[in-house]
Amino acid sequence: MSAQPISIKQPAPVKHFLQFKDFTREEFEYLFARTRIIKQKFKAYQQYWPLQDRTLVMIFEKSSTRTRLSFEAGMQQLGGSAIYLNTRDTQLGRGEPVEDAAQVISRMSDIVMIRTFEQGIIERFAANSRVPVINGLTNEYHPCQILADIYTYIEKRGSIQGKTVAWIGDSNNVCNTWLQAAEVLDFNVHVSTPPGYEVEPERAGLYGTDHFESFADPMDACRDAHLVTTDVWTSMGWEAENEVRLKDFADWQVDSDMMRAAGNDALFMHCLPAHRGEEVTAEVIDGAQSVVWDEAENRLHVQKALMEFLLLGRIET
Ligand code: CP
Ligand code: NVA
Repeated sequence: MSAQPISIKQPAPVKHFLQFKDFTREEFEYLFARTRIIKQKFKAYQQYWPLQDRTLVMIFEKSSTRTRLSFEAGMQQLGGSAIYLNTRDTQLGRGEPVEDAAQVISRMSDIVMIRTFEQGIIERFAANSRVPVINGLTNEYHPCQILADIYTYIEKRGSIQGKTVAWIGDSNNVCNTWLQAAEVLDFNVHVSTPPGYEVEPERAGLYGTDHFESFADPMDACRDAHLVTTDVWTSMGWEAENEVRLKDFADWQVDSDMMRAAGNDALFMHCLPAHRGEEVTAEVIDGAQSVVWDEAENRLHVQKALMEFLLLGRIET
C-alpha cells in the first residue's frame, strides 16, 4: 500500500486581541454580558469546563503578578491548562525570530498570551500564528486591563457611555488604551500629564481627538469626573528615567483634593502595582472611593470571557 499524503486543512483566519480597537462595541457588550455569567458561575463554585483539553501558552518578557495569575487560574477554571514561558529560559532570549517561534508555539497550543516590549513584536507573532493571540501588555497598550476596568465601572455604576474618566500622570500603555476604549465605547477621557509627557495620538492608535481633552492642571482634569485613574510614573522598560520622572511627576499625585473635585460618587482605579506616596496617596487608594481590589479580581473574569470568545465564539446560554 502506497503512503497517501495527509491533507491538512488550511486554518480559518483567527481573531486576535492585540489592542482595544480590535473589537467592536457590540463585541464588548457581548463580552461584558458573558463576563457576568462566568463570574457568577465562579462565585457559585459551579464547574464550567468549556476549554477542556485546550492549552494556553503565556509568554512573558516583562514581570507580572496579576496577568500571569489571572490567565493561568482562568484557563484552569475553564478546564484547560496553561504553560508559562519567559525569555530567560527559552530560545526567544537567544535570538530565535519571533516569526519562527509563532509558527511552532501556535502548532502546539490553542491560544497565546504575550507580554512584551514593542507592539510590533506581538503583531509579528500574531501574523505568523495559527491561534488567537492576546496582548498581556506592551509598551503601547494594555487592553486586558481596560477590559477589566470598564467591566468594573459597569458593575458599580452602569454604562460608561457618555461618562468622563480622568487620567492623571504618564501617557503610557494604560492611558493609550483608555483613549482607544473611549473611541470604541463613546465616553470621554480628561488627561493631565506633566509637560513633555503628553499623549501622542498616533502612538495611542487613535482615530481622532474627539474623545479626549488635555488639561495642564490635574485638578481641572478631575473636576466632575465619574472615574479618576492613574498608574506608575515609571513603566517597565523606562527604569533609566526613574529619578527624572520622580521630579517631573511630583504634582501629578492623585490625592483627596482631586477626588473631592471629582465628587463623592466618583470611583478611583489603578491597574496595580501601586506606589503609595508617588502617583497616589494611601488615603485615596485605601479609601472609600477606591475599587482597586475588585478591579484586579475582574481581570480573571473578563479574561475567561475573552478566551472563551476567541476559542468558541458566541455562547448562547
Ligand atoms: N495590572 C497588571 O497587569 O499587573 P501585573 O503587572 O502584575 O500583571
Ligand atoms: N504602565 C505599567 C503597567 C503595569 C501593569 C507598565 O507598563 O509597567
